[in-house]
Amino acid sequence: MQFDKPATTNPIDQLKVVGKPIHRIDGELKTTGRATYAYEWHDPDMQYAYGYPVGAAIAKGQVISIDSSVAKQAHGVLDVLTTLDLGDLKKGKMNTARLFGGKQVQHYHQAIAVVVAETFEQARAAATLIKVEYAPEQGAFDLRSELDNATMPDPSTEPESSTGDFHAAFVVAPVTLDAEYSTPDQSHSMMEPHASIAAWKGEEVTVWTSSQMIDWWRSDLAITLGIDKEKVHLMSPFIGGGFGGKLFLRVDAVLAALAAKTVGRPVKVALPRPMMPNNTTHRPATIQRIRIGAEQDGKITAVAHESWSGDLPGGGPETAVMQTRLLYSGDNRMTAMKLATLDLPEGNAMRAPGEAPGLMALEIAMDEMAEKLGLDPIEFRIINDTQVDPEHPERPFSYRDLIGCLRLGAERFGWDKRARPATRREGSWMIGMGVATAFRNNLVMTSGARVTLDQEGIITVETDMTDIGTGSYTIIAQTAAEMMGVDIEKVAVQLGDSRFPVSAGSGGQFGANSATSGVYAACVKLRDAVASKLGFNSADAIFENGQVRVGNRSFPLSEAAGAEGLVGEDKIEWGKLAETHQQSTFGGHFVEVAVDVYTGETRIRRMLAVCAAGRVLNPITARSQVIGAMTMGAGAALSEELAVDMRRGFFVNHDLAGYEVPVHADIPHQDVIFLDETDPYSSPMKAKGVGELGLCGVSAAIANAVYNATGIRVRDYPITLDKLIGRLPEVV
Ligand code: MOS
Repeated sequence: MQFDKPATTNPIDQLKVVGKPIHRIDGELKTTGRATYAYEWHDPDMQYAYGYPVGAAIAKGQVISIDSSVAKQAHGVLDVLTTLDLGDLKKGKMNTARLFGGKQVQHYHQAIAVVVAETFEQARAAATLIKVEYAPEQGAFDLRSELDNATMPDPSTEPESSTGDFHAAFVVAPVTLDAEYSTPDQSHSMMEPHASIAAWKGEEVTVWTSSQMIDWWRSDLAITLGIDKEKVHLMSPFIGGGFGGKLFLRVDAVLAALAAKTVGRPVKVALPRPMMPNNTTHRPATIQRIRIGAEQDGKITAVAHESWSGDLPGGGPETAVMQTRLLYSGDNRMTAMKLATLDLPEGNAMRAPGEAPGLMALEIAMDEMAEKLGLDPIEFRIINDTQVDPEHPERPFSYRDLIGCLRLGAERFGWDKRARPATRREGSWMIGMGVATAFRNNLVMTSGARVTLDQEGIITVETDMTDIGTGSYTIIAQTAAEMMGVDIEKVAVQLGDSRFPVSAGSGGQFGANSATSGVYAACVKLRDAVASKLGFNSADAIFENGQVRVGNRSFPLSEAAGAEGLVGEDKIEWGKLAETHQQSTFGGHFVEVAVDVYTGETRIRRMLAVCAAGRVLNPITARSQVIGAMTMGAGAALSEELAVDMRRGFFVNHDLAGYEVPVHADIPHQDVIFLDETDPYSSPMKAKGVGELGLCGVSAAIANAVYNATGIRVRDYPITLDKLIGRLPEVV
């Protein structure tokens, strides 16, 4: 199905199942431990062996030799595969760094060997017996000291934009801001580590793994193993989080497949937690300079956003300026990204790549500007709202109600009680409120599905879509139930299997809207098949209560299916609506914090997000996405930072003891409100993404609340105690 005109009324609009607060249909499996994660597959007929990976102990250079002779003699060890034995394996298309094979070391903890043994413990113990000789080289690890060496990234990343004359407008603007902000390297830190089991049957391999994007992984694994894609079967039906860390093939799948081939048995490989931050990808650090010029009345006349980030050779920038091209009005604009070569682990997508760190900076800058102008920060944003793409004014937003989010949020949060900076105290706590805009583009991806109807009247949906903890199973079941006119209990959903039609996968907050649209398209085909079997015209048929009705004749779906059943298969493909219309999602974040006047300890007390993201397919799962994202934003604001060892070139705090994600005690009362809206430009579902929106801007709202509480502006994330304590007001 080609989606190239705005959606009109369709069966989804009935909202009998879609839009209802239905609990996750996989919830019971998850909460009772019966949802099988990658490492947990167990077939009693299989004799599993266990692989333990070994990572490079240098950041850059060459592996000269690997002596695994002692390890090979260790109890239970079946074999040791090293990167030197295998030579240069072909790199897949999606990763910048090689995953395995060859003597070059591109980053710390890049895999150089895997020990295979009868048990996990034997493999782990033997891994310590491997002796490696390196020829290290000096690398570049410090973004700030590489700024002068940073260059323009590849033109495909659209590194620059310019409208009007920024410099001329900025120098004459009566009120200006010129400030620098920084965000650190961050780690996805999802609950389930990267893990895979591989089993070969002849020339074909089955890999049970933890992947957001089945088809990307399948293609890249085939390239790396040097076999046809058709010979790779991937399974990833349940996933314990990804946040972008599982978008691209990871080494556990490669090592498991290679090891299983070598030892002739199925092999399990998981990345130990302390190997994850340096072996896999991370969100790269940024340094950002923002300049804004405005008239006294608050109208922005000039805005510039520049961002510097680093990556391995061949990598790309953190696209932190992208939202600034779209978010606020202003005739004279400039954005630019610069990329430094760093020999740290590969930087890549982490939840809301670009917008998340970009808004951490921009939305503090907006707060600072509002203060300079003597305007309420909400009013300042409203004055500069735009209904068109400011760089291409002929392109309207498909639907944009940022103002609605900010106004409703202000009312519900009690924004009128916000005091001047550093004036509100409760005992030793300084209290403050902050606001920020949430903004994230609505991406769409081709997505396919197959839907079958059997003679029991059961609808089964098959697609390689993944559920990374988001609720894909549930919204897909809701979509099929709505389209076919059955109760949700009559729908079975099968996900995460490469034998099923290729879907959007989970990423970029495109999964929910794209994958359900693919199911919609397949259901249209199934409705046609049902109608034609019964000799109806499907346009005249009404599907409800498990029946198909035309005029006064009606038949149970089960009867239409007959003994052979009926199938509908299709994919959604996207026309030019995303080019003619800017599709984005919006929100307002409101935060209240308390900062201890003696220690600088920050406690978030209340959070509210008001979101405008098209039709909400399921208010429970959508709310959970936003709550989770707000929680992630609390970590980004207050604690999360991969600390770089500038001499040796690795992330020092590479486990969950040193890399501090929020815990329950950090998370206060949180609430989410969705504006009641639909966007017919987005898809037949009229929905948009919410999975990343909730993270966008929330850390800046926290930073702005800390400023309101203390009068201290921190522009360098995370806002840890040391950045406040020397600047706290004198207490008498
Ligand atoms: Mo997302 S960073 O595309 O999983």
